Amino acid sequence: MSNLFTPITIRGEKIRNRLFVAPMCQYSVNREDGMATDWHMVHLGTRAVGGAGLVMAEATAVSPEGRISPQDLGIWSDKHASVLEPIVNFIDSQGATPSIQLAHAGRKASHKRPWEGSDVLTKENGGWDIVGPSSLEYDDGWMVPEELSIEDIDSIVSDFFASAVRSVQAGFKVLELHLAHGYLACEFMSPLSNNRNDKYGGSLKNRCRFPIDIVTAVRKAIPDSMPLLVRISATEYMTEGWSIEDSIELSGWFKEEGVDMIDCSSGGNSADQDLEPYPGYQVPFSSAIKKEVDILTGAVGLITDPYQAEQTLRNEDADAILLGRELLRNPYWALNAQVELDGEDSVWPPQYVRARQ
Ligand SMILES: Cc1cc2nc3c(=O)[nH]c(=O)nc-3n(C[C@H](O)[C@H](O)[C@H](O)COP(=O)(O)O)c2cc1C
Repeated sequence: MSNLFTPITIRGEKIRNRLFVAPMCQYSVNREDGMATDWHMVHLGTRAVGGAGLVMAEATAVSPEGRISPQDLGIWSDKHASVLEPIVNFIDSQGATPSIQLAHAGRKASHKRPWEGSDVLTKENGGWDIVGPSSLEYDDGWMVPEELSIEDIDSIVSDFFASAVRSVQAGFKVLELHLAHGYLACEFMSPLSNNRNDKYGGSLKNRCRFPIDIVTAVRKAIPDSMPLLVRISATEYMTEGWSIEDSIELSGWFKEEGVDMIDCSSGGNSADQDLEPYPGYQVPFSSAIKKEVDILTGAVGLITDPYQAEQTLRNEDADAILLGRELLRNPYWALNAQVELDGEDSVWPPQYVRARQ
């Protein structure tokens, strides 16, 4: 049997295979209220039907200010959790593990959604005031964030705590924290976006304090048996910026705080980043963190072929494979991959087995 279709157990959770749906914003809330819609049910539900081991809901905002766009999913009230519950139940009913990514967009918040141009949304145009570790804008023409006070930071950590509690209430079985791509936690981590001189700025340990605070709080909010994943940008592709060495150090600290898996992404914090993606371009980060820290890792980024995924696992470069865009093109990727790799159809829903070639 392939490694890809070998189950993985993380804490108390057995996941049927190692093919995870990467978190992907759908910008598809109807009333700008953060509530999941039929779109989320069909989108996530289809990927569960399509045989993935774990289906992760998109970056879900812990507060309205933490949204990238007005149409982002949110989980800042109990009502949000109860609207998510039927979706969670459907994913579960298909044998996939329901998971959610919790997020705060920081200085990259308040934009139009991509297919409307991704423009900055000022307050006058339906946007909101944005916050960050320092008053440093992401790029020319972007809004300047307001520097968070210590009280504000505590309050955002509490938002993550409360959102984690609600995620458990909704029935999610795995939680991921979005600490990557230049959003709030990532902004704290990088010396290029954080010039604070209090306990949240300066040294590597100080810049990592905010994400570690979130991890510590969230670990207390969820059951001991529940896996906690974090997504980081392993490097920001800038000479003076966050590096893979920093990621290795931080992953060790995360491990001590009860993080179970590092989902290894990269970039997104600097408009000048020097990056040319190629197939599997982030796998070396996963491999380095896995080997140096001895922690489970997930590989993501331009993985599209079952044999490429299998090779990554067999080489022990990762413990799970996250697929993003390939699963938008083909939600049934895993069904075909299982036939191709193993000649098996155990992840096929019985309704579809007659289509197996
Ligand atoms: C439409 C879309 C939305 C995305 N939204 C998120 C998100 O909510 N959270 C996140 O961490 N990454 C997000 N990403 C990044 C993906 O999770 C993934 O890391 C990236 O697309 C690279 O993997 P791929 O080559 O398999 O697509 C998004 C990507 C796409 C294409």
